[in-house]
Amino acid sequence: MKKEKSRRRFLKNLGIGSLGIMLLNNLEAKANTTCNQTTLDYFGEGPFYTANPPSMQNGQLASPTEPGTRLVISGHIFNLDCSQIVPNTIVDVWHADNNGAYDNSGYNLRGQVLSNSQGFYSFETIKPGLYLNGSTYRPSHIHVKITPPGFPTITTQIYFSGDQYIASDAAASINSGTFDATHRIINLTTNNQGTLEGTWDIVVDGNGTLINTNDLHLENGMIYNASPNPFNDEIRINYGVFKEGLAEISVYDLSGKKLANLVEAHKVSNKYEVIWKLDKAMSSGYYLITLKLNNLQVHHLKVYKL
Ligand SMILES: [Fe+2]
Repeated sequence: MKKEKSRRRFLKNLGIGSLGIMLLNNLEAKANTTCNQTTLDYFGEGPFYTANPPSMQNGQLASPTEPGTRLVISGHIFNLDCSQIVPNTIVDVWHADNNGAYDNSGYNLRGQVLSNSQGFYSFETIKPGLYLNGSTYRPSHIHVKITPPGFPTITTQIYFSGDQYIASDAAASINSGTFDATHRIINLTTNNQGTLEGTWDIVVDGNGTLINTNDLHLENGMIYNASPNPFNDEIRINYGVFKEGLAEISVYDLSGKKLANLVEAHKVSNKYEVIWKLDKAMSSGYYLITLKLNNLQVHHLKVYKL
């Protein structure tokens, strides 16, 4: 219904006519490209999967002493038309270490996380190193098995934009069909801690929870800023509520465990600020500040505790 409304508004602004229809079709095509079913990887699980990996503790796949560039991957799990989020999906992750080697005797850099009640998952690791496949290097990649509750497992891999070895890789270079890797090549940004951050939304067959996932934070509210970030003993959080309702600002660790509830109150549409003062020692690392409106998580921000 929302799409219809915005479409009509858009056409009205343009003036109704064939130009409008043409642009409408383009818009729809664009909208569809943002909800792409997660594809299988041509190489499948590869030779280095070990069954029954442990659950990650605090969303940490790599220990703090693991050599390499720190990397945080997060995203939502959606159903096929992206109209629902899918909680309790197992995200089983394994990858090579900084030198391109897999731990084939133990479970280093192997672990599972679950998407939370908001369909959100997150884990912290290091950027995988390169290894030779025949005479050429495979691009840096993370193997993933995704199992929504009651639905089949999808076995695939993610890659990183700008990797020089994508073009020559038999799996990562596929850009159409069953094994299309296009939407599994993700952008990484570097924060001021030198940590790489990437977002990967996963689209699978599964029974989800119906929420309006279109532009959640733009429609409902958002966290504008959290500073200083990284922080030490306190952090100031600026947020906006766009739709009147029950607003909650909370702090979670990367495994989805709630650590603090900073705001839980009815709020009218406006801008707000809250300061989180740490009243106990907390370990250094990433935390998530979340904004919920009427029990729906509409936005989050990663912050780093020094
Ligand atoms: Fe691999």
